[in-house]
Amino acid sequence: MPTSEKVKRALFDVLPELNDGVIIDLGSGWGNLIFPLASKYEHCHIFGYENSPVPYWFSSLINHKKNLKIQRSNFFNVPLQDADMVVCYLFPKGMEELKDKFEKELRPGTHVVSHTFAIPGWDPKTVIEVNDLHNSKIYLYEVPS
Ligand SMILES: C[S@@+](CC[C@H](N)C(=O)[O-])C[C@H]1O[C@@H](n2cnc3c(N)ncnc32)[C@H](O)[C@@H]1O
Repeated sequence: MPTSEKVKRALFDVLPELNDGVIIDLGSGWGNLIFPLASKYEHCHIFGYENSPVPYWFSSLINHKKNLKIQRSNFFNVPLQDADMVVCYLFPKGMEELKDKFEKELRPGTHVVSHTFAIPGWDPKTVIEVNDLHNSKIYLYEVPS
């Protein structure tokens, strides 16, 4: 299920400014977020990790962005220490399991942006409600120092 156009527009309105660094999309799917991320943050390195073969294959095939790498991986096995921003649109159990990984690996100051599902137990800096059918929420976090 890719991020909808409405949520994508709202998300891109509130994403933090980054002039360089590493941005990771956990579960990059067909590329609905990684391609616009690679355009918006042209001086950053964007990584998309996707374990499902067909969306991985499709998004890799159409990827001509120099600053975007798409890898077929289980994101639980990918180190996150270098990330300056992590973006995700997943499912409740995934967020619960990622919480531990985030707490172990993310550096203070790292931005985490998740839509639809929150990170259980974390306090978002900002929550945006999108004017769509589901009143989808966008959660913006920053790892505390
Ligand atoms: C809801 S889709 C979101 C896709 C894309 N990020 C977007 O916003 O349009 C979630 C994606 O995460 C992938 N995914 C789920 N668990 C994964 C895992 N452990 N490792 C890598 N990808 C995973 C799924 O295959 C799916 O493509």
